[in-house]
Amino acid sequence: MMAMTAFFNMLSARLIFLSLKLPLRPMHQKDTYILAIESSCDDTSAAVLKNGYVLSNLVAGQTVHEAFGGVVPELASRAHQKNIVPVVHQALKVAKIEPQQLNAIAFTSGPGLLGSLLVGTSFAKSMAMALNIPLIDVHHMQAHVLAHFIEDADMQKPPFPFLCLTVSGGHTQIVRVDDYFDLNIIGQTIDDAAGEAFDKAAKIMGLPYPGGPLIDKYAKAGNPNKYPFSKPRIDGFNYSFSGLKTSILYFLQKEVKQNANFVQENLNDLCASIQKSIVDVLMKKLDLAAKETGIKHIALAGGVSANSALREALKKREESLGYTAYLPKFEYTTDNAAMIGIVAYHKFLKGDFANEHVSAKARMTW
Ligand code: KG4
Ligand code: ZN
Repeated sequence: MMAMTAFFNMLSARLIFLSLKLPLRPMHQKDTYILAIESSCDDTSAAVLKNGYVLSNLVAGQTVHEAFGGVVPELASRAHQKNIVPVVHQALKVAKIEPQQLNAIAFTSGPGLLGSLLVGTSFAKSMAMALNIPLIDVHHMQAHVLAHFIEDADMQKPPFPFLCLTVSGGHTQIVRVDDYFDLNIIGQTIDDAAGEAFDKAAKIMGLPYPGGPLIDKYAKAGNPNKYPFSKPRIDGFNYSFSGLKTSILYFLQKEVKQNANFVQENLNDLCASIQKSIVDVLMKKLDLAAKETGIKHIALAGGVSANSALREALKKREESLGYTAYLPKFEYTTDNAAMIGIVAYHKFLKGDFANEHVSAKARMTW
């Protein structure tokens, strides 16, 4: 009877321990090492963070999509499968960290391409189980926003509350950020994302995917006021980019009929004009949101936040409208695992861990 009671006491103590979800690490260890994995779209990335500082942040891109004018989901998952082991291995090597030193494994659980997400999710789950350490699921769009909190001497952290214009290949959102985990979307696109607008315009002009960085590059030598494209008329803080794409398409079809070399001969001016149209649309709603909320701390996030004209437009408003602009370092704009790691670090501090049932989701709310 005594032995039976002791056994149940031991069992209940173990269950209490498990349900508390305490970080499984030695009490004397003060530093927190997190391995983060990002595989939501076409970049396989792994990073190691120590207390929110980036020790390594590696990204393996996928050139296989260039010829298709966009990401091919099936090819993306296959490339992640091929890249994930060497990328994680290299991230640990650059960080000079052994797997046994890690305190948690973090991964992007969504939103994104399901096949791509599943590669990172399965890998992270297996590694956390093998090492017997906590697993942390991270929302991709939240990570773009919270990239501003990566410990980095070259970046200034925005104070709460701030507004973040999050612009990527799949999303365009104005987010009001009141705390690390108190984020609210106050405006978003009703059709194409800003990155999609760049990429589709580039595709119409015959440029390879992703066209955004190329438009940015050619625009530097062009006249932004040469071709005025139509601007959407849409209420509130929401966006629409599908009309712009159609107006570029019809305009070029008309011009190319008269001169087959029209695009090549006017590439710089076309890129500068398209870029200006997109940036004007983005800034108009951001200004409206700043005015109506009274929040003047404004951040940019996501792949399109690498765009030089968008960064310049926000920076200029520091003087003209009294904003304080927060621009992420270039390596934290496009998809990267360091941003997943910083969200994971803040979840780790709260003891907010995932269990073995967690799964990837293509669509996700905050
Ligand atoms: O955040 P991200 O790496 O992936 C998604 O989550 O979608 O964003 C990728 C998007 C692509 O559409 C790409 O063309 C765009 O960001 N992008 C740019 C620039 N750099 C990346 N767009 C305009 N100018 C850039 N410099
Ligand atoms: Zn992204």
